[in-house]
Amino acid sequence: MIDWNEFHEDAIDDNTATAEVPQPAPAPQPTASRAEAPAAEVRDSAGVYQVADQDRLARAKQSLEALDVAAGLEELEMGAARIEVDDKQMINARADLNQLVPFKYEWAWQKYLDGSANHWMPQEVNMNADIALWKSADGLTADERRIVERSLGYFSTADSLVANNLVLALYRLITNPECRQYLLRQAFEEAIHTHAYQYCVESLGMDEGEVFNMYREVPSVAAKSAWSLKHTQSLARPDFHTGTPETDQELLRNLIAFYCVTEGIFFYCGFSQILSMGRRNKMTGVAEQFQYILRDESMHLNFGVDMINQIKIENPHLWTAEFQDECTQMILEGTELEIAYARDTMPRGVLGMNAAIMEEYLHFICNRRLAQIGLKEQFPGAQNPFPWMSEIIDLRKEKNFFETRVTEYQVGGALSWD
Ligand SMILES: [Fe+2]
Ligand SMILES: [Fe+2]
Repeated sequence: MIDWNEFHEDAIDDNTATAEVPQPAPAPQPTASRAEAPAAEVRDSAGVYQVADQDRLARAKQSLEALDVAAGLEELEMGAARIEVDDKQMINARADLNQLVPFKYEWAWQKYLDGSANHWMPQEVNMNADIALWKSADGLTADERRIVERSLGYFSTADSLVANNLVLALYRLITNPECRQYLLRQAFEEAIHTHAYQYCVESLGMDEGEVFNMYREVPSVAAKSAWSLKHTQSLARPDFHTGTPETDQELLRNLIAFYCVTEGIFFYCGFSQILSMGRRNKMTGVAEQFQYILRDESMHLNFGVDMINQIKIENPHLWTAEFQDECTQMILEGTELEIAYARDTMPRGVLGMNAAIMEEYLHFICNRRLAQIGLKEQFPGAQNPFPWMSEIIDLRKEKNFFETRVTEYQVGGALSWD
């Protein structure tokens, strides 16, 4: 059974894997606390806590007087040298993480601005035509319904896995504020995506229990979720720290697993299936939700690629031949799992696609992911059989893509499926 909390607790119990990781110094203890401030505590005859309203301000002032201000200021390093751009690093930085500027990683800040400019909410999409089509007896074929169900089944929990990895595993290990600013934006976008899938499920009146449990119950969906979860496990442990070549590589593994594979490969069969449905004027509301999500995911992927490449530049000793081989294998594993998902969701030709064409597309995507982080393509000559996907999410012309889509979104017009 896959359960974030369950494996997380298991991980805490198992201390073997990171036994050599240096432990952080214990946090300084305040020399005074509220507990030491005089309390005007009164209990009534039944022993219930009572306090007079007028005592509160006096107690607050007494508490401040009792605090050791000097100890607090020492923690802030009062008078320390102002941070310089060169102090900043992607990982293992010693620079103050509370100061956003001066910027070092302009690409991260720009993606934060671009992501914020693309803000959208699921309720803005009209779902009426989808509801009518979904509820009509002959609106969709059985194979088309299977694709809608599987897509919502995988994505409804996949974005929670990504969000949990960001917040509970990755965030604290990325040690510069402009990247963290984008990570916070991305985390909120993942919440919006999960909301969008829930909104589709609710609008269509689908069985919520069945959809949200597919990641435990449907093998082709569960295999992908389990693969992602495996790569978040060690980083989510509270005692995990970067700072050695082994732990820094573990962080890179996590980035590749989540950005290049989960968000960069596992989303692509389902996205292309649903977007193909939209192009055929079926389930256009669901497809419009997916198009907005794909626009966000395109930026998540590109941000992850930028992070991976920047960490490689700053830490070239991590990018060994052996490690490159391992990362190539990870991306091939992800591609194989997505091909298996394509076969499961398309036992026959549907929507102008079939599993064999999807396999070719996934080989093309796999090559792209490998090349983006400087690894050798594994399927030479693989072509993109869905050029219209590139128009929706242009793999090379991100700027043009966003210029056109943002304008359409800001005027509130419907997205075009041409
Ligand atoms: Fe997402
Ligand atoms: Fe994402």
